Amino acid sequence: MSTSKVKDAYIENIVKDEYFPVSFEELEQEAEKKMSIGGFGYVRSGAGREITLRKNQESFSKYSIIPRILRDVSNIDTSITLFGKTYPYPFLLAPVGMLKLAHEEAELAVSKAAAAYQVPFIQSTVSSYSIEDVKVASGNSSKWFQLYWSNNKEVSFNMVKRAEEAGYEAIVLTVDTVMLGWREEDMKNRFSPLKLGVGKANYEQDPVFLSSLDSQDPESIIQGILDNIHHPSLNWTHVTELKERTTLPILVKGILSPEDARLAIDNGVDGIIVSNHGGRQLDGVIAAIDALPHIVEEIKGEIPVLFDSGIRRGSDIVKALSLGADAVFIGRPFVYGLAAAGQKGVEKVIGNFIQDTKVSIALAGASSVKDLSSIRIVKS
Ligand SMILES: Cc1cc2nc3c(=O)[nH]c(=O)nc-3n(C[C@H](O)[C@H](O)[C@H](O)COP(=O)(O)O)c2cc1C
Repeated sequence: MSTSKVKDAYIENIVKDEYFPVSFEELEQEAEKKMSIGGFGYVRSGAGREITLRKNQESFSKYSIIPRILRDVSNIDTSITLFGKTYPYPFLLAPVGMLKLAHEEAELAVSKAAAAYQVPFIQSTVSSYSIEDVKVASGNSSKWFQLYWSNNKEVSFNMVKRAEEAGYEAIVLTVDTVMLGWREEDMKNRFSPLKLGVGKANYEQDPVFLSSLDSQDPESIIQGILDNIHHPSLNWTHVTELKERTTLPILVKGILSPEDARLAIDNGVDGIIVSNHGGRQLDGVIAAIDALPHIVEEIKGEIPVLFDSGIRRGSDIVKALSLGADAVFIGRPFVYGLAAAGQKGVEKVIGNFIQDTKVSIALAGASSVKDLSSIRIVKS
């Protein structure tokens, strides 16, 4: 159990000589200054008209917290337990690929920052450094692996095996990316990080993938990734097959309907992530926070329900947890922290989220994450 006093969240940010953006909006502006036009556009943008991207954040304002008072909130336990492991805070870092777009040290910097705070780091299949490189950089800290199913399924199974061997604790199978969303910003910028090779590290170091290629020159490797990365025929049989190949818990990421949440349980999935991929896949889909309560109602605690898409502040985390999520993922904010100041920038973002979350839990009138279930959220 991690119980700690609520510190004054402002002090550290005020007394430091060096200014670092606190608000998400300013952080985004700072990242824009540091990144290429294509790289920043890739991270910031959503699919289509970006209706879902906008809705993800705006919809949080439809939910209001009814705080409780006079409940002695001097000690706040922010810890959560997932699959038998206790983590000190109710958030993880979302799987985000191509992190070299934000900073040369990419996943090495992010995984070290996450380790410094004992926040689990989820490594994307299309990361800029490999599973093994990240393990060397960040040691035995908690790490999960996010899998994009490869057309050559033996490549998928081998990547999962590599993650297991490196001590990763869970597999996140992302299912909302069976083909790439209609990303107008990237087309405008003529930008494809996959083609630039920014997300090739795990493939380049995978013997099963390499042995499937006719040639191992850089162009063939990139073509091989493009041939493998999207798998439109993905279905529940792949999930059950994956289950047979690993002893790690499997979470399915990208669920928005209660029916699919039920099917996940029927197919033996260990946890789900309610997510619309940060508005980057099908534009016009429901905001993730609007999908959450219906899914929580269907799941009724049978397996953990995690959440992402639109978390920007501690109060957003309080809303998602009070609506029944067991934990949340932070996405774009940490990427902007990375772009702004490398590992230190990610540490700053995580540190601010920790403080903001503690203060928000306390001011809602709860003393622990569990206690948040007693805090009512209304639509107003
Ligand atoms: C630049 C970028 C790259 C991403 N890459 C991946 C990825 O490789 N795998 C994955 O499952 N999700 C990926 N995501 C989605 C995130 O895991 C998460 O669902 C999303 O960022 C949540 O939205 P938010 O950042 O607006 O809160 C990516 C998101 C962004 C912004």
